[in-house]
Amino acid sequence: MNTPPKLTIAIDGPASSGKGTMARLLAQKLGFSYIDTGALYRVVGLRATEAGLDLRDGPAVGALAAGLALRFGWTSAGLRIYDGEADLSDAIRNEVVGRAASDVAVLPEVRAALLAFQRALGAAGGVVMDGRDIGTVVLKDAGLKIYLDASAEERAGRRFRELRAKGEDVEQKTVLHEIIARDAQDKGRAAAPLLCADDAVVVDSTGRTPEEVLTEVLALVEARS
Ligand code: CDP
Repeated sequence: MNTPPKLTIAIDGPASSGKGTMARLLAQKLGFSYIDTGALYRVVGLRATEAGLDLRDGPAVGALAAGLALRFGWTSAGLRIYDGEADLSDAIRNEVVGRAASDVAVLPEVRAALLAFQRALGAAGGVVMDGRDIGTVVLKDAGLKIYLDASAEERAGRRFRELRAKGEDVEQKTVLHEIIARDAQDKGRAAAPLLCADDAVVVDSTGRTPEEVLTEVLALVEARS
């Protein structure tokens, strides 16, 4: 007897809407793999900056992206991202790299270079993949699509606390401006902009704990299984 294919879950939404936390908890609960596609754009942003490239140069940054040896690893320290043997998981988690990621994510050449890799990771099902264009471009046939949102103030507050906990000297006001600018760039770009897929379920995490949001999403999974 053939076992039915496992569900594929796409989660999109703006910066710090709780996508990563929710996707991780959901994958854990369901025994699925979690794939953080933002990490791929962050690595491209980091590597392009290190190489001294102009982040608006599509052909150059696209060629760099196509030449990276990207690979995810699932370890006891959580999901890791590698370029070849280099573990870049910690180096990509800061606001400078976040902004560089959003800059290179505008470039169609970069998006094209990352597409097949993301699709291959989702092909077998049993995955929770989060990003900006998962339900609209990467996994258009996903069995469940969620658009996770929260107010800009709440998202900035979360990001601010995360950065402070890591010892970064930032101001909440600056983080809010940064989040608003990044949302505008992600929603306004021509190539695969952040938008809610027609068949996505909108979930708002404003003022709610991760567990509350997870309960709502698990009920959606239940309904699709
Ligand atoms: O963690 P945070 O929500 O701040 O960002 P992220 O998910 O790590 O993504 C960083 C940047 O990569 C975003 O601002 C997007 O511009 C870009 N991105 C994208 O264009 N498409 C994706 N599927 C994932 C991320």
